[in-house]
Amino acid sequence: MAGGGKSRHARLRVRSVGPEPSASVGHAGHNAGPTETVTVLVRRSATSNEDRFVIRRQPRMKVLDLLVAIQRDHDPSLAFRYSCRVAMCGTCALRMDGTAGLACQTAVPDHLREVHLAPLAGLPVLRDLVVDVAPFFARWAAVTPYLVPHPGATAPARVRPDSPERQVIDPALDCITCGICYSACSVSEDGRDFLGPAALNRAMVLIADSRDASRSERLARIGNLDGVDRCHYIGGCTSCCPKDLDPFGAIRQLRRWRLTGIQGIPTP
Ligand code: SF4
Ligand code: SF4
Ligand code: FES
Repeated sequence: MAGGGKSRHARLRVRSVGPEPSASVGHAGHNAGPTETVTVLVRRSATSNEDRFVIRRQPRMKVLDLLVAIQRDHDPSLAFRYSCRVAMCGTCALRMDGTAGLACQTAVPDHLREVHLAPLAGLPVLRDLVVDVAPFFARWAAVTPYLVPHPGATAPARVRPDSPERQVIDPALDCITCGICYSACSVSEDGRDFLGPAALNRAMVLIADSRDASRSERLARIGNLDGVDRCHYIGGCTSCCPKDLDPFGAIRQLRRWRLTGIQGIPTP
């Protein structure tokens, strides 16, 4: 696929918990060298309090390694989700020192002594760090998130990697449905009528795709009362996306298309 601007390397960068290189999350300066242990404070649903675990540091730890160590060595009842461990499945999303991100992608810096872990905001908590993602996927499903082929299409469509539509689509394509942008968006909270950043980003990708037969229906859908006009245009969704997508930019693009029509991209 042709690059749409950002490099693959940039998309897969490893993030860190805590401000780097300051030690304000822990209690040791970064010149003090690696700590031997990391204290992990986990918000538990049973008590709404934080449970405290002291974990022995291993080289090149990620936050997910801390959770696995807690479950293995301290408390097998701790609930959290993960699957791929390589920032592809989106299931390990949670808040680390208040900032939402992927536990498997987030490094534990050498100086860190303490980190607070909590479930994603904006979604109902099922248990401990596990949230109910049904509200997020209900919005995702509402934009018909799959390609609708043209009736009667018999041969595979050819879309050049350097075509205008690929330039629009490629930078927005790698959504892993982690729900982090949704949780960061105050307008998306459960019970409020807004499709949310991930679903609108997906709608933009499909509207730009000349192989899709539902462009006009999709444009009408994102123009409904729960569509693009509910966005407050602050951009919190884009700044937290672990795949470096730009759902806020996708929403702006959709709004432009609604106002001025789609230009420069082939008509389905
Ligand atoms: S747009 Fe980014 S933050 Fe939002 S669900 Fe997709 S990958 Fe996650
Ligand atoms: S820019 Fe729009 S979609 Fe993104 S967080 Fe703000 S209100 Fe939500
Ligand atoms: S375990 Fe799959 S994204 Fe983290």
